[in-house]
Amino acid sequence: MGQSKTRVTPLNRCITEPLPTGGQIEYEDFPCTIDVTGPLLYTLFQERWEETQIGHVVEGSVLELEFTQPPKICIIYDGYLTVVTEAWHLHLCLEEHLGGPLAKTPSELRQQRLIHRASLYRRLNEKGEPRSWGIQFWNGAGEKMMNLFLPNPFLGEDEDLLPEGKPQKSKLSLYNELRDIYVLGIRPIPFENNPLKRPYLSVCRSSRCYPSRKWQPIVEALQEAVKEAGMDLYVMTSGCLEVCKMGPVVFYSGDRTWYTRVNPDVARRIVQEHLVQGQPIKNHLYPQVKEG
Ligand code: FES
Repeated sequence: MGQSKTRVTPLNRCITEPLPTGGQIEYEDFPCTIDVTGPLLYTLFQERWEETQIGHVVEGSVLELEFTQPPKICIIYDGYLTVVTEAWHLHLCLEEHLGGPLAKTPSELRQQRLIHRASLYRRLNEKGEPRSWGIQFWNGAGEKMMNLFLPNPFLGEDEDLLPEGKPQKSKLSLYNELRDIYVLGIRPIPFENNPLKRPYLSVCRSSRCYPSRKWQPIVEALQEAVKEAGMDLYVMTSGCLEVCKMGPVVFYSGDRTWYTRVNPDVARRIVQEHLVQGQPIKNHLYPQVKEG
């Protein structure tokens, strides 16, 4: 996305589909590359989480989840956006999922999992009046992925259906703002750098690859070294990082590097030698790089 604020190039694609029970749904597509979905989803999950609900709607099944506080984690690992709250978490494939350090995911499956279409939508009643607003995603197989419900001016507290003639029109401000930025491209994306692409270091805390689970000294060593180096880098712990042996395992998202057998000394070297000087520590890399 570069260093300056950019605008989305509009797709100018609006598709209207009739609904089986009357009315219709109107989709306005926007680009689904990470330069667009990253800032959009960061805004919704990290900044406007109180106004955003997660959904999954197919005939015969509906799921609706809301945030009660900001998510604990909102990062991309191996193509999947992961959002973690106190009660639930979600994964959404925004970039190709290569399949861990050994890149095991077959190319067809990578394409199937990857988001291929994104739309801002409005559901309209028989009179053509909009009654609900949201965002829908589709995968590479054309299947509906999750959707996001945006604030609805006809709903008050606790899903209270307001009198027909008295909608809270101010609730449409989020939808209108997103439409201006991501569908119409008449306002710039409000970030200089993609907030979901901020690099991070993660330490696996699972017992399969590290039975003692004393990962704290490694996290502390990474945090101290990052601070000393003056880097803007997030240090965190995570579940399985798909190596599952020779722990402690550390992952650096900046260039997709996995390290095994990391101790505090190696942790400091990862920051100083790899991140600062650009020299990965060869004998701790996973998979091992064959010489010659
Ligand atoms: S359990 Fe640690 S990498 Fe899988």
